[in-house]
Amino acid sequence: YQPDFVPIYFILRDGSKVRVDCRVGDNLLDIIIDQNVDIDGFGACGGTLSCSTCHLIFDKANYDSLPNKVTEEEQDMLDMAYELSDTSRLGCQIVVTPDMQDWVIKVPNDVADARILPQIGFRR
Ligand code: FES
Repeated sequence: YQPDFVPIYFILRDGSKVRVDCRVGDNLLDIIIDQNVDIDGFGACGGTLSCSTCHLIFDKANYDSLPNKVTEEEQDMLDMAYELSDTSRLGCQIVVTPDMQDWVIKVPNDVADARILPQIGFRR
């Protein structure tokens, strides 16, 4: 039996925890946008790996069990994100699987839009 939807919990910037019923096979960016989860500035580039505003922080065990590992392109974007952690990923690169039922994922407190930072003189 494969569920069509699994509940995933997001810890938002104000500390509140919201349950989102996530369709298996969709990526976390699309889900957050489609379900109007209130995360300011989230997913600014529409999933084209050019912003880092879809930065999410996973529990260590969950992070380790993600089916796809970080690519070089994703890592380049993550390097621009605020609050980068060892268990950070970009939501647009994470496709929901049934294993993700009841996961708790943290939204970092600040966003860095990599498309804007160069204009204000930010350099890595
Ligand atoms: Fe821009 Fe994921 S939405 S990198």
